[in-house]
Amino acid sequence: MVLFGGSGLIGRALARRLGRDRAVCTFRSRPVEGGIRYDALTADPATVLDQAGPASHALLLFANSDTRQCATDPEATRQVNVAANKRVIDALLARGIMPVFFSSDGVFDGEKGNYVEDDPVKPVMEYGKQKAEVERYLRERTDDFLILRPARVYGAAPGAGTMLDDWLQAVTEGHEIVCAHDTRFCPIDVDDLATLVTALVENDTRGVFHTGGPESATHWSLLKSLLDALDAEDRAPPLVLKSILDLADWEPRPLDTSLVSTKAYEKCGFVPADPESVIAAFARSAHAGQNAPAQRTSRHD
Ligand SMILES: NC(=O)c1ccc[n+]([C@@H]2O[C@H](COP(=O)([O-])OP(=O)(O)OC[C@H]3O[C@@H](n4cnc5c(N)ncnc54)[C@H](OP(=O)(O)O)[C@@H]3O)[C@@H](O)[C@H]2O)c1
Repeated sequence: MVLFGGSGLIGRALARRLGRDRAVCTFRSRPVEGGIRYDALTADPATVLDQAGPASHALLLFANSDTRQCATDPEATRQVNVAANKRVIDALLARGIMPVFFSSDGVFDGEKGNYVEDDPVKPVMEYGKQKAEVERYLRERTDDFLILRPARVYGAAPGAGTMLDDWLQAVTEGHEIVCAHDTRFCPIDVDDLATLVTALVENDTRGVFHTGGPESATHWSLLKSLLDALDAEDRAPPLVLKSILDLADWEPRPLDTSLVSTKAYEKCGFVPADPESVIAAFARSAHAGQNAPAQRTSRHD
């Protein structure tokens, strides 16, 4: 299996799950042991596939997921998120390798929430528009595809570089936390996402699958649970609660992108952990001092 963008948050979790024998990762700026250097703006994906050797599936994980950059520089970010993804898809289809495209819950407008796979996509933010365009491109070319729509990813293990690490650092250092109180989504633990993705690929599944966690949450509800679990009320950092519409006032934002992901759970026979369990496990590890140095935080919000 080839992981285009295997050096990121999700790619590293998948590589751990699959093992070095089964996963060939590409990286751009963060080297991965045994990985292949690949810059989507300059390199030919066919060269990566030649180097990687035979593969049944390729995971399209690479992206510029900084939603603010997508909005403020759509032309540059489209080069990576749209044009380069299309080139990889073409190269895969030419070789009979099944594309597994990592889309997002950001393809929805956030008006109704509890989205199922058949709900029409209607992105309101540029990042979601870019994801929706690649989804459409892929569907128009083949039926042999997997489109996965993860929700916001976090991790029970400190140091993965998710929002929980940012908040833990703020608590430890007493920094102010500015937190959105009104966006609802279904966060998923990164290792649980890796379990779902691996099972879907191993079962040779096709189609569109929502891959969020089992319960919806807001940034604020997650932060409150973390402060509780850390027993940090008495040393809580200064908190500023805001609407996402004020925090990200450069473009419209979807308010409720919660996903129904039971189709994936049933296919895989596995239900990811709920937010309370993920946060309790994170706090236990933090208390035990397992604060591995954080990876660079992904900018999905
Ligand atoms: N994390 C989430 O909460 C979340 C939620 C929904 C959907 N997704 C989607 O899932 C996918 C993986 O997410 P992630 O969190 O693992 O992302 P990430 O941590 O930001 O990693 C991005 C990956 O893309 C690579 N990359 C970036 N620009 C590139 C370029 N110009 N050429 C080649 N490679 C490039 C990075 O390489 P280097 O780091 O080596 O430079 C890295 O391997 C993305 O498509 C993202 O949009 C993520």
